[in-house]
Amino acid sequence: MDDLSLITACLLLATCLAYPSYRDKIPNGYNVSHPCIDGDVWDGVGHENRRGGGVRNVFGKDFQLNGMVWDASLCNMDSDGDGKTNGVELGDPNCEWSMGSTPMYTTGLSHPGICDPFDSKLCDGKPSFVDCEDTSNKKCPVVEEPGTFNFTVRFPETPVPAKETTYICVLMELPHDKDYHLVAYDPVISNLEVMHHTLVFACEGVDEAPGPLMQPLECGDAMYSCRTIIALWGAGAGGQCLHEDMGILIGGTEGIKYAVMQHHWNNPELRTDYVDSSGMTFHLTPKLRPNNAGVLMIGQYDLNIPPGVLSYSETGSCHSECTKQIMDGPINIASVANHMHLLGKAQYTERIRDGYSIPLAVDAVYDYNTPVSHKHSTPILINPGDELKTTCRFESTSRSLTTTFGDATADEMCLAFITFYPKENMRTTECAAWKSLSSCELRFQTNRRGCDFVKMDNFSHPESQEIYSSVSSLCALGTCRKECLGYVRELKKHACFSGDVGSMRRAFGINYGEQRAEVIEWYSRFDSCDGELAIEKYKAMMSDEDINAGATYRPAIFVLTTMMLIISFF
Ligand SMILES: *[C@@H]1O[C@H](CO)[C@@H](O)[C@H](O)[C@H]1NC(C)=O
Ligand SMILES: *[C@@H]1O[C@H](CO)[C@@H](O)[C@H](O)[C@H]1NC(C)=O
Ligand SMILES: *[C@@H]1O[C@H](CO)[C@@H](O)[C@H](O)[C@H]1NC(C)=O
Repeated sequence: MDDLSLITACLLLATCLAYPSYRDKIPNGYNVSHPCIDGDVWDGVGHENRRGGGVRNVFGKDFQLNGMVWDASLCNMDSDGDGKTNGVELGDPNCEWSMGSTPMYTTGLSHPGICDPFDSKLCDGKPSFVDCEDTSNKKCPVVEEPGTFNFTVRFPETPVPAKETTYICVLMELPHDKDYHLVAYDPVISNLEVMHHTLVFACEGVDEAPGPLMQPLECGDAMYSCRTIIALWGAGAGGQCLHEDMGILIGGTEGIKYAVMQHHWNNPELRTDYVDSSGMTFHLTPKLRPNNAGVLMIGQYDLNIPPGVLSYSETGSCHSECTKQIMDGPINIASVANHMHLLGKAQYTERIRDGYSIPLAVDAVYDYNTPVSHKHSTPILINPGDELKTTCRFESTSRSLTTTFGDATADEMCLAFITFYPKENMRTTECAAWKSLSSCELRFQTNRRGCDFVKMDNFSHPESQEIYSSVSSLCALGTCRKECLGYVRELKKHACFSGDVGSMRRAFGINYGEQRAEVIEWYSRFDSCDGELAIEKYKAMMSDEDINAGATYRPAIFVLTTMMLIISFF
């Protein structure tokens, strides 16, 4: 038990014993090696992901077609086409093995779902899902150091609801008799079929438990405003070993004392028989490292991915002006994890300084089932005034409707989690964008592109009161009143109700506001004259064009006229 990979393997093994695993149903199921990394085991024998879950490899597909049983038929197949039958690869050349017995051979095995040797005539090179450089099982020396200790927090065994997406949270207490650094962690996964990801959110500045401990509750209120991500795992990933110059401060007077562990369970088949008790093992040391670590989230909240598109990109930036405001000094980036959902194909996170870009995390081929933490053993320096930006590329050919930002697997995300030190130089944990607006513009400025949010969100301020009540009294639902038209014609030019600021205020009010129904009704009144306003615009344009270009724009005008007719019809 002397390195992280072994620990992880044992945790997975314990799991698999608790829940009869597919690996028990094939000979040597726990001993199939990685085809190109000595000493590493390929736990998910039937999957493209070495840790299981997600897309099945050719052997996994044959196993499934065969009703998940090992018999002569599956044994005699050569699933990966490398000239060796599945039986030969798994040490059962005569196809005699039955569950629980010892296979004829327990050494000299090979992988039944990966054609190898890669350079042989039969194989067409290395399959794209095999990563020979994968270092995620490498050992984490600090775990062995004297003084380092661990504790494991697992959910009590909990039924998984019969719905596609569940976010389930438990509030946990961390040791706080003195200062510790969290230096490494490992996932403890009990039900790989449902576990999509785990996030651990620190409750910063909280000295008393904000709710009941270790009670699984659907997230939402059970987040208790705990927001700082301090540990993350995604299906396919292993544990994390933090950069040796930093640790996450736990306990003592300043450190984190409570945290919320959130599991995302994915149950698209709506099965009712799943239970889960996954969790994490945390490695702590009282020998504090030179720096406290923090995590910053960047990305784009406003996603509108059109259906049926082969390649669609979005970016989210934490602008240069923003980093000046949220940073009190330089930071060092030690690791970055990109995050999208099922449509995500590639993602690029970068630092931009004076027009020059340095990559922070490049997933040229992004796979939702195999999240990668991009480590920088020589940390990358970020100065106040540098821009942090992420670019996401999606493929939506499988969809017939627009995909938007959201928590469900079928929704999308475009985020990057940046682990850095020292934590003290960063005033926030999030600098994601809404279209071109960085969130610092929303949080640290009162005047955002001419819109005074404080005033506009203060319903007792005379100016905002005038705006809200005028729309409510002048504008009707479903019909355009003349008095409304005159009022909203001007209001739609107001900095708080136009452009990216207007669209952000609208989306947040409608989706996240406390009085959603009222907000939706208000915006329906506000929009009741949009048809008329569009016609005004079109008429103005037409008269301009008549002057400038005669009748050259007739076809465009015809299209516009038709559109107007359609709009006014509805
Ligand atoms: C796996 O292989 C090791 C030696 O490589 C052996 O000790 C162990 O018994 C094997 N496990 C199973 C389940 O066959
Ligand atoms: C936790 O620490 C105990 C005692 O030192 C050790 O036996 C165990 O293997 C450790 N567990 C993990 C998951 O590291
Ligand atoms: C809201 O506006 C009123 C009237 O101008 C003012 O007295 C009050 O302090 C404002 N509240 C906030 C929270 O700014």
